[in-house]
Amino acid sequence: MQARQMIIGMELGNGYGAAADSWRAPGVDPADYLDYDVRIRHARAAERGKLQFLFFPNGPHHVVDIEHFGPQMTPDLIVHSALLARATERIGFVVSASAIFNYPYTLAQQLKTVDYISHGRVAWNVVASAHPEVAANFGSAVLPGKDRYGRAWESVELVQSLWASWGRDAWTHDQAAGQYTRPGGVKPVDFAGNYVTSRGPLYIPPSDQGQPVMVHSGLGPDSFRLAGRCADLVVGLASSIEDARSQRETLRRYTAEAGRDPDGVKFIAGFYPTVARTKREAIERRVSLLQSQFPQLVPQLGELLGVPLTMDDLDRVLEPDEIGALRPPHPDMPIWEHARIPRAHALASEGWSVRDILALGVFDEHPAKVGTATEAADHMQEWFESGAIDGFWIIIDVYDDGIDSFVDNVVPILQNRGLFHRDYEGTTLREHLGAREQYGPDYRVAQTARPEQPQHSTLPEGQ
Ligand SMILES: Cc1cc2nc3c(=O)[nH]c(=O)nc-3n(C[C@H](O)[C@H](O)[C@H](O)COP(=O)(O)O)c2cc1C
Repeated sequence: MQARQMIIGMELGNGYGAAADSWRAPGVDPADYLDYDVRIRHARAAERGKLQFLFFPNGPHHVVDIEHFGPQMTPDLIVHSALLARATERIGFVVSASAIFNYPYTLAQQLKTVDYISHGRVAWNVVASAHPEVAANFGSAVLPGKDRYGRAWESVELVQSLWASWGRDAWTHDQAAGQYTRPGGVKPVDFAGNYVTSRGPLYIPPSDQGQPVMVHSGLGPDSFRLAGRCADLVVGLASSIEDARSQRETLRRYTAEAGRDPDGVKFIAGFYPTVARTKREAIERRVSLLQSQFPQLVPQLGELLGVPLTMDDLDRVLEPDEIGALRPPHPDMPIWEHARIPRAHALASEGWSVRDILALGVFDEHPAKVGTATEAADHMQEWFESGAIDGFWIIIDVYDDGIDSFVDNVVPILQNRGLFHRDYEGTTLREHLGAREQYGPDYRVAQTARPEQPQHSTLPEGQ
């Protein structure tokens, strides 16, 4: 029997990489942001490594400081997927699209079209827009959680109903008989929810995988409840193996509650590798990508360690008796930042300088490994074999050389250890992820007793 193997996806946001300073890294053309030839090169590099998918984040909440840093998001996800679909053959595309600020009909139409033209390589990452910067662009405030997730779930039901409104076997296109579709094979959906409404049908036949695979990214109970009802894959954020295990358990519980098979929903964690021939080289690479942020990060590191630190301390190795006691996280600290405190303490007591501690990834949103390819592979093996996750979505610091470096150095180690496949098992994203066949809504999930109609609708007009 084939041993269980990991899924690996890769974030592809801007044209530069995930590091804030990637747009001005050595060898990077600063005009790469919208250069699709460059994106095609990056996508093909990931495909050479047999990665199952590219993850396209949407925004614009990822824009931190446009005067100094490139946006960390994909400019237009549908255009992006369509162009990359024509330039690659196997790799899938996870398209993040808001279930709040899009008409479900538009979502259904665009996603199924790119799924069709890519021969079944698209997933919809259902995001429930929790960011004021996103809401403001649509003339709205962030909706209360009940409405956000109420609308998100109805949108999923409606989008999937629209996908199935063109029946699986409806397209006969029999020229001799003059019959284009089977009688009754393409039908309206007449969906009238509390939040979204559409008559249908959607005039798009099934793709090679039927319809897009369903993905969700989020944190919190509402998010996992939604994922439990519809996701084939959760692209997650876990700060430690224990955190991943607990999130996965929550996800499994909600999946079972929704009437679906918990083993059918994969959970993967973010991983931020910086790979070089030696650990020192990897650290220096990270330093060069991070140093513009040192003035803010040094005092923050001091707070984590309980030692006041300034830029003058960058090269200092802290003495054991200088380092404060390990403190519990501040109540305002988001859950994914909790791991920073023990990590900073561990690195300080290993004798790394302040500069090195910062470069080793204390402040990264996702767990990082800054070192050799073997160290990156060891991290991935440890997490995977713990059983807490089904794989990773990797976050590459600088795409230009970082993707090749991961694909040429880390992937072969994982393959040699039997942890990652040597080739795609099929042609569709559904096959790559081992997701079950589905056309239309998941029949196992009871059509929800919809939440009561909100008293005053804060939803954008007409949506
Ligand atoms: C790993 C990960 C990736 C995410 N990617 C996106 C994204 O690309 N676009 C977006 O609008 N939200 C994204 N989100 C945010 C979630 O959709 C959600 O709004 C957020 O986690 C807030 O949680 P809540 O909706 O439960 O309040 C992401 C969340 C996680 C954990």
